[in-house]
Amino acid sequence: MDSIPSTMMAWTKTLDTAGGFTKEEHPVPAPGPDEVLIKTHSTSVCGTDIHIWKWDQWSKENVPLGTITGHETCGEVVAVGEGVTHPAVGDLVAIECHFACWNCPRCDEGNAHICENGSIFGVHINGAFGPYFVAPAVNARPIPAGLDPGHASIQDPLGNAIHTLTGGPVEGATVAIHGLGPIGLFAVNAAKAMGAKMVIAIDWDNEYRMNLATELGADLVLGKNNDVVAEILKATEGRGVDNSCEFSGSPQALANTIHSTRMGGYVNVLSVYGNSMPEVPMNEVVFRYLHLKGINGRKMWSTWDTMHDLLERGLIDVKRVLTHRMNIDEFPQAVELAISGECGKVVLDF
Ligand SMILES: NC(=O)c1ccc[n+]([C@@H]2O[C@H](COP(=O)([O-])OP(=O)(O)OC[C@H]3O[C@@H](n4cnc5c(N)ncnc54)[C@H](O)[C@@H]3O)[C@@H](O)[C@H]2O)c1
Ligand SMILES: [Zn+2]
Ligand SMILES: [Zn+2]
Repeated sequence: MDSIPSTMMAWTKTLDTAGGFTKEEHPVPAPGPDEVLIKTHSTSVCGTDIHIWKWDQWSKENVPLGTITGHETCGEVVAVGEGVTHPAVGDLVAIECHFACWNCPRCDEGNAHICENGSIFGVHINGAFGPYFVAPAVNARPIPAGLDPGHASIQDPLGNAIHTLTGGPVEGATVAIHGLGPIGLFAVNAAKAMGAKMVIAIDWDNEYRMNLATELGADLVLGKNNDVVAEILKATEGRGVDNSCEFSGSPQALANTIHSTRMGGYVNVLSVYGNSMPEVPMNEVVFRYLHLKGINGRKMWSTWDTMHDLLERGLIDVKRVLTHRMNIDEFPQAVELAISGECGKVVLDF
C-alpha cells in the first residue's frame, strides 16, 4: 500500500450553471470516530449525477456548490477511525450512500434510508468522484462472493431496483418496468431472477436499452410506437399488472403506470422528476385502490441482504448492464454518454 497523500484532485461541482464541474484540489480527509477512509476503485455515473450535471431545480436545492459528487462507489479501506472494528484496512467495500444517525424515530422503525438527520453521500456532502473519501464504517459494505470487486459500485442502482420492485409482489406476479435506464434494466433482471410470472419492459425510443431488456429476459418490450397502456392491459387479460415500477422520470410514464396497474395493485416510483412535475390522476388511484409508493435509496439492510443473495447465486447479469468502463479523467465525457442513453451503466475507474 502506497502512503496516503495529503491532498488530491477531485471533480467538484463549482459553478452555478449546467455542467459546471472543475477538477479541484482538496485535502485527503481523515477518518473521524466510527469512520473509514477509502481509496476509490471505481465510481459509476447515476441518473442523479445527470440531474446534477443538468443543474435542474432539484439539484440546485440539494447540492451545495463546492461538493465532490459521485455516490455509487467501491474501493479499499486504507485507514480506520477510532472505535472501528470492521471493516479493516485492506478490505474491499461498496458504499451505502444514505448516511443515517441511527437514533431518530425513522431509524428506530427500520427506515434509516429516510433518517431525519441523514445526508446523502456525493449529493449533500463530499462523495467519490475523487481518489479518496471517508464514510461511516457501517456504510462500507463487504462485497458478496460471486461479485467481481471491480463491479461492486453497481450495488447502489441494483439495490434501488430491488427496493422498488419489492414495494409490491414479485414472485409469481406480473411486473411492468417503465424506463430502461440502468436501474430499469437491473429491475428487469432482478424481477426475472425473483420469479416474476411476466415482466413487461417499457422505454420511449431507446432501442439500445430495449434490446438489452430483451436479452435480460423481458417477456414483452414496448416503446413509443405502442399504445403502452392498451398493450399492458392486453397482456394481462384486461386487468393490468400486479406491480408497476417507474424508473423513467417521465410524467407520461407515471400516468401510464396508474392506468395499467390492476385494481388494488402496486405502483412504486423511484424516479426523480426534474423540471416537469407530473399531474397524478388521483381519482384512478383512489377508486382503483392502488398502493402508490415513493421509493428512496435502499432498505438498510434488508435490500442489501436480498441483493447479496441474488448476486451470490449468480442471478444478476452485471456484465450485460455495465456496458462502459472509462477513466475518471473522462468524467465529462462519461456524463455526456449517460445523457445520450447509448449505454447501460457507465463506470469510471481510478
Ligand atoms: N429515489 C432514489 O433514491 C433514486 C436513486 C437513483 C435514481 N433515481 C432516479 O431514478 C430514475 C432512473 O434512473 P436511471 O439512471 O436508470 O435512468 P435514466 O435517466 O438513465 O433512464 C431513463 C429511461 O427512461 C426512458 N424514458 C423516457 N421517457 C419514457 C416514457 N415515457 N416511458 C418509458 N420510458 C421512458 C428513457 O429513454 C431512458 O432510457 C431517474 O429519474 C433517477 O433520477 C432515484
Ligand atoms: Zn445512484
Ligand atoms: Zn436517523
